[in-house]
Amino acid sequence: MEQINDIDTATDTSRISISAHYTGYIWYKNGLSHKQFVTPMGRAAYWALKPMNIFMQKMVGASIDTFLLQRHFVLDHLVEQAIEEGFEQIVELAAGLSSRGYLIKKAHPSIHYVEGDLPGMSARKAELLDQLGRAEGHMTQPCNILDESGTHSIEALLGSLDKTKKTLIITEGLVNYFDLPTIRKVWARMAVALKQFPQARYVTEVYPKLEQHPSYKYVKVAQKVVGFFTQGEYPLHYDSNKAMQQGFIEDGFAQVAVTAPEDYYDKLDMPTSSRQSLVRLVAADV
Ligand SMILES: C[S@@+](CC[C@H](N)C(=O)[O-])C[C@H]1O[C@@H](n2cnc3c(N)ncnc32)[C@H](O)[C@@H]1O
Repeated sequence: MEQINDIDTATDTSRISISAHYTGYIWYKNGLSHKQFVTPMGRAAYWALKPMNIFMQKMVGASIDTFLLQRHFVLDHLVEQAIEEGFEQIVELAAGLSSRGYLIKKAHPSIHYVEGDLPGMSARKAELLDQLGRAEGHMTQPCNILDESGTHSIEALLGSLDKTKKTLIITEGLVNYFDLPTIRKVWARMAVALKQFPQARYVTEVYPKLEQHPSYKYVKVAQKVVGFFTQGEYPLHYDSNKAMQQGFIEDGFAQVAVTAPEDYYDKLDMPTSSRQSLVRLVAADV
């Protein structure tokens, strides 16, 4: 009994869930979400972080929200691209209060969309989707990315899907809450589990450690603020696109593309930053 409690404590990262209220509000405020997913906590966090955002805009040339929006737009684009390529199953892990699943199901009713998150957040999302009138083939499932086995593991979630269909995993706003060895173990498990599908891809954003970036010292401030809000660390991963790509290859992915928001400025109508951006987008195929 004691041992079970120890394991639960080690993998309980529900302290991070508060961040979903903030991002959920940012998506709504910028016309990217249904108001159903707005919570009082999200609204309060937005006002609490407003001074920080003004400071970042002045010093870095873009606010935290700009970087959030950039990643969100590009990830949406990468998902749409996968759908065009014939991907029919999408698993969004740590989906939080994002309405990506809701919007994709509206635009592409035949897609099988599964939203995974920690049990508390998953239950909340299930209720919100039910109130909106949930589309057929839009599932919510409790999933803890740190569970290596059992009903809440990524392996169990993928195991419940159709093995004949092209399958995509997406995570947004998740990976930098974990230190690199921890998240690499998750990525390696994903790569193994994705190999059971005829074609499979993982897309995510990663905030790298760009110590040479002119705004790096302000990034450290933002990192501290996020860490304070979520009562933990917010480590940055890899110091170059090449190192990031190599890392994913070593984790078991066969083909890895690392891009930056500016690579999409001519394609996507999204907020731009005056300096080199601080986030990277990864599309990794097994
Ligand atoms: C910053 S929010 C991102 C939510 C959403 N993807 C978005 O961009 O708006 C982080 C999410 O990670 C979830 N989370 C934290 N730890 C997790 C874990 N171990 N397994 C799965 N999800 C987790 C939280 O519940 C929360 O919904």
